[in-house]
Amino acid sequence: MAINNKIVEILPALRMILSQDKINVAKVYEEFEASLVQLEVSAQGEAKETIDQLKKEVESYKEEKGCFPNVIDLKGVGVVVVAETPYEIDCLVAQKPVDKAKLVNGRASGKTAIITGGAQGFGGGLVELMMKDGANVIIADLNEEKGKEFASELNKGAGANKACFVKVDVSSPDSVKELVYQAVCEFGGFDVFISNAGVLRAGGLDEMTPEDFEFMTKVNYTGYFNCAKYASPVLKLQTANKSGYFADIIQINSKSGLKGSNRNFAYAGGKFGGIGLTQSFAMELMPSRVKVNSVCPGNFFDGPLWSDPEKGLFVQYLNAGKVKGAKTIEDVKAFYEAQVPAGRGCTVLDVMRAVYYIMEQEYETGQAVPVTGGQEMLK
Ligand SMILES: NC(=O)c1ccc[n+]([C@@H]2O[C@H](COP(=O)([O-])OP(=O)(O)OC[C@H]3O[C@@H](n4cnc5c(N)ncnc54)[C@H](O)[C@@H]3O)[C@@H](O)[C@H]2O)c1
Repeated sequence: MAINNKIVEILPALRMILSQDKINVAKVYEEFEASLVQLEVSAQGEAKETIDQLKKEVESYKEEKGCFPNVIDLKGVGVVVVAETPYEIDCLVAQKPVDKAKLVNGRASGKTAIITGGAQGFGGGLVELMMKDGANVIIADLNEEKGKEFASELNKGAGANKACFVKVDVSSPDSVKELVYQAVCEFGGFDVFISNAGVLRAGGLDEMTPEDFEFMTKVNYTGYFNCAKYASPVLKLQTANKSGYFADIIQINSKSGLKGSNRNFAYAGGKFGGIGLTQSFAMELMPSRVKVNSVCPGNFFDGPLWSDPEKGLFVQYLNAGKVKGAKTIEDVKAFYEAQVPAGRGCTVLDVMRAVYYIMEQEYETGQAVPVTGGQEMLK
C-alpha cells in the first residue's frame, strides 16, 4: 500500500513548523513502533485544517515538554519522523545512538535538492558536489540503472546526508508529480529544484523532422513547466510556514538560450522559451519567497554530449568535416575552445558556483546567469 497522496499537502508544512535555525528533514512510514510515537493528529479533514491542528498541537507539546516532537502519527496518512539529517532519522528508527562525528557541516548542509537529469553530465556533477557539501540529493533521471548505481556509490561515502534515485520522465506531468510525491515521502520536501534534464538533436530545417522537434520541445521546454508546476506548491507550502525562508527553482539553460544556434533551432528555441518561463514564474512566485532563475552554461566539452567517444559531438563534427582542416578530435576541440575568451569549456564547478550564488542570496530572481567564459554576454 502506498502512503496517502495527501502527504504532499501536509508534510512540507510540518517540516517547517518543526524547524528552528536549521531546516529539518522528515520521512514518512506506513507502519511504526507505537511506543515511539510522541504526538497523534488526525489527517482525515482538509490539509489546511490538519496543518492548523498540527501547529496548535506542536505548540502545546513544546510548552509541556520543552522540546519539539520527533515522531508524529498523522492518522490516516502515516507516521512522520523528523530530524536535522536522514542519518539521525535512521538512528531514531533503529533506536541507535547518534555518532556525532558524522554530523559535519558543509556549504549545502540542511538543504535538500532535486536534480533532474542527475545521473550524468552537468546534473551528475552537481549531484556529486552538492552531496560532498552536505546536501541531500534526489537524482531524478530516466536512466534507472545509472541513477541507482550512482546513488548507492554516493551513499557509501556520505556523512549524515543521503542520496536517493527516483525514475522520472520530465516530459510526462504524471511522472513529475510522482517524483515530487517520492521526494516528500523521503525527505519531507525540498529546498531547491534544479530542472537540468535536457536533450539535443541538432539539424537544420531540411533535416529536422516534426517528431524530433516535438520530442526536444517536450523535454527541454514543457519538461521545465512540468517541474515548476509540481515543485512550486511544495515550495510555497514551506515558505508559508517559515518566516524568512526562501526556496529556489533553478533551470539549467544554455548559452543557446541567449543567442540563436545555427542548425540547432529546436534546442535554441526551447532554451529561449525556458528564459521566458523563468521570468514569468519569477514574477508569480517571488511574493511567496520562491526565487526562479536560469543558469546559462557554455559548452561542457568534457561531458558526454561532446566527449563521448562514439556519439559525442567532437566525433560527429570530425566525421562530418564541420571544422575545416581538422584531422583529429583534438583539432575539433581546439577550434571550439578558441571561440571562448577564457580559452576552455565550461565545467561542473563553474555551474555549481552559479547555482550557489543564486541559492545564497535573497534579492535575485527571474535572471539568466551566463557561465560562458565570456563567449556569450547579456545585452
Ligand atoms: N553539454 C553541454 O555542453 C551543455 C551546455 C549548456 C547547457 N547544457 C544543458 O545542461 C543540461 C544537462 O546537459 P548534459 O550535457 O549534462 O546532458 P547529458 O546528456 O550528459 O545528461 C542528461 C541526463 O538527462 C537524462 N534525461 C534525458 N531525458 C530525460 C527525461 N525526459 N527525463 C528525465 N531525465 C532525462 C539522461 O538520462 C541523462 O542522464 C541540459 O539542460 C543541457 O541543455 C549542456
